[in-house]
Amino acid sequence: MKLIKWKWQQLISSLGCLLLILACNSFYPSTKQDAKLLKVATDPTFIPFEIQTASGKLEGFDIDLMNAIAQVAEFKVDFENLPFDGMISALQAKRVDAAISGITITPQRLKTIAFSRPYFKAGLAIAVRQDNQNIRDFNSLQGKKIAVQIGSTGADFVKTIPNAKISTFNSGPEFFQDLLNGNVDAVVSDAFATLYAIKNGKLKGIKVVADLLTEEYYGIATPKDSPHLETINKALAALLSNGTYKQIYQKWFDAEPPQLPQS
Ligand code: ARG
Repeated sequence: MKLIKWKWQQLISSLGCLLLILACNSFYPSTKQDAKLLKVATDPTFIPFEIQTASGKLEGFDIDLMNAIAQVAEFKVDFENLPFDGMISALQAKRVDAAISGITITPQRLKTIAFSRPYFKAGLAIAVRQDNQNIRDFNSLQGKKIAVQIGSTGADFVKTIPNAKISTFNSGPEFFQDLLNGNVDAVVSDAFATLYAIKNGKLKGIKVVADLLTEEYYGIATPKDSPHLETINKALAALLSNGTYKQIYQKWFDAEPPQLPQS
């Protein structure tokens, strides 16, 4: 008799536990296990924003920032490597949910895709071989051979230089190699990436002669009517005010981050 009573008690308490678990689950339906998965495109040839280590691991300012955003907004990130030039069409076709790749917010791009609030203050720089004495500024680029990345703001910028002969490349390592080989006189590309690579010994024999030719801001790109844009913006705002953005900036650039506009 005692044994049967004990079994009943056990059954009732197990049922109670089960009901409690079910109730909790309906109150908190989105536990970490079923967090949303966002496919995020990146072109990891852009030191120190996105790079791929020899073992295939992605690293960089953008990667840290995107992971921090995902943590705050409780989604998971599935990074997908794409060439920079293919990113806008991948977003337009909604093959990816977002892209982070040091992408400058431009009026032209805003016609076809959307951007988060600005997350990085950037600009273009002119880089030449260390022994070059005659290229010093924008005007001295006239009639020169210049290498740029296909589809980049650098590529748009050099179109305005009279008589320049432009070569286009898929990635940073390629156009800098062309400069070192002596095939072109200069490279016009993002200042922070070039200065970082020179400072860290990744670009030997190259110097920057004019930096911040333009004022640009990077944004996280999404398809135009993305349901994730607001979530990303809210998370970015939180990271900017809680000190996480500053920490990530200091980790990669060893400097205080500048003030960013809100939109
Ligand atoms: N900021 C420039 C642009 O938006 C170049 C960015 C290149 N980024 C990269 N991951 N390759 O056009």
